[in-house]
Amino acid sequence: MKAAFCSRTLAILALAHAGFASAQDDGMPILTLNDDESFNFDILTGLGQMANDGADVNPVLEVAKKIKPGDRDSYTKAWFDLANETKAKALDPEYASDPVNVRATWFSASNYFRRADVYNRADWDDPRINNYWDEQRAAFDKAIAALPVPAERVEIPRDDFNVSGIWYSAQSNENHVERLPTIILTQGYDAAQEDLYSTIVAPALARGYNVFSFEGPGQPTPRREQGVGFIPDWERTVTPVVDYLLSKKAVFIDTKRLVLYGHSFGGYLGARAAAFEPRLSALLLNGGVWDAYQAYTAYLPSDLLTLLESGDKEAFDKAMDELRSDPETSTTITWGLEQGLWAFKMKSPYNFFQSFKNYTLKGGIADRINMPVWIADGEYEDLMAGQSQLVKDALGEWAELHTFNGTAGFHCQTGAPQELGRVMFAWLDKTFNNS
Ligand SMILES: *[C@@H]1O[C@H](CO)[C@@H](O)[C@H](O)[C@H]1NC(C)=O
Ligand SMILES: *[C@@H]1O[C@H](CO)[C@@H](O)[C@H](O)[C@H]1NC(C)=O
Ligand SMILES: *[C@@H]1O[C@H](CO)[C@@H](O)[C@H](O)[C@H]1NC(C)=O
Ligand SMILES: *[C@@H]1O[C@H](CO)[C@@H](O)[C@H](O)[C@H]1NC(C)=O
Repeated sequence: MKAAFCSRTLAILALAHAGFASAQDDGMPILTLNDDESFNFDILTGLGQMANDGADVNPVLEVAKKIKPGDRDSYTKAWFDLANETKAKALDPEYASDPVNVRATWFSASNYFRRADVYNRADWDDPRINNYWDEQRAAFDKAIAALPVPAERVEIPRDDFNVSGIWYSAQSNENHVERLPTIILTQGYDAAQEDLYSTIVAPALARGYNVFSFEGPGQPTPRREQGVGFIPDWERTVTPVVDYLLSKKAVFIDTKRLVLYGHSFGGYLGARAAAFEPRLSALLLNGGVWDAYQAYTAYLPSDLLTLLESGDKEAFDKAMDELRSDPETSTTITWGLEQGLWAFKMKSPYNFFQSFKNYTLKGGIADRINMPVWIADGEYEDLMAGQSQLVKDALGEWAELHTFNGTAGFHCQTGAPQELGRVMFAWLDKTFNNS
């Protein structure tokens, strides 16, 4: 059976196991939270943010209990109700004078609204797409305003889009005594920069880093606010971010320790950007993506792959539409397609798959990456299976590949942020002390 938790970032690949995909009988090392592998992963994503104020355990387990496998309405309602209840607690004046309450309650409400948003992509005009997002963002902004040093939303205008970022530092504008190492975080196919707060931003701040997270075209906030779909040449986002940091935040930043981290499909985006951004000192890829078309078409059943490669757009689109509307099709597949079409801003599955040909490190891109690179892979990674090794092979001595096994072996170490932090920050310490 395919790995139960991994089929997320680009879940189209689960096409290989069309039909109801069960997460129950899978030989996985942890307890399953829902018999629907896609819901199971989403619940684990919500629960995994518990590490730094982003969730509480039992409310999430209650949500897990309410969600019926394959029933998206039950999924959305369970998360929305929890989000709305948590928001009511955050608004209760009884608790509002304590900034620790304010922070934890709003961070949690924000996470729960994001989880409730996941399956609302079938109809691009569904008002929940923006309504739930406005809720998650308003909640998140209240939380980051209550940090010891409030974080700051930043819009970096480009000619044809804005990069939407957040600057976090333990030092304030009034009180900066030291230039610190800085991590730039780029997200992937579907999740939000806000999803990285509990799992990466807070652990980095605690270790003395500044953090700049951002989203570019195709990612949740720019896709909604600016109507822009994904672009392959991600240096168009990262280079303006580096320009911004080295001009507006220069007093905070140790320019010899400026790191880019790419999460999930961000493993492609980050590597592509690093190839064109020599001011970076190190690159973290969680995980590696060598060639998106190769990675994702590998999971197509052979008849669909033949149809795709035949160039028969009409026939391929028809076959994919049939698959999507078939009640036997797994949640993972329907979700992956609907999320992808929305994020890439395409109506045709054929065009969507073809566009992956531009998301590649082949053709000399990887050769341009001249900095230490850490690549994470997972024992249960099957979405981008084998891709991290290909990136490692192309980068040779520049790269170190770490394979997470056992309970940390899921896509992006979901549910095991402590293990991710231990290994990744130890590598950074080693890399910077050696250089
Ligand atoms: C959200 O919670 C409030 C109470 O805080 C309630 O009045 C409202 O009906 C709830 N909204 C929905 C859509 O359930
Ligand atoms: C980009 O950000 C600027 C503020 O810096 C804002 O005025 C503008 O409306 C934004 N553009 C888009 C497309 O959101
Ligand atoms: C790849 O990118 C080029 C240049 O932006 C564009 O012209 C082409 O249409 C893209 N290919 C696909 C298959 O999307
Ligand atoms: C995970 O397992 C693989 C295969 O046995 C091994 O090569 C790798 O070193 C293991 N990773 C860790 C962190 O132990």
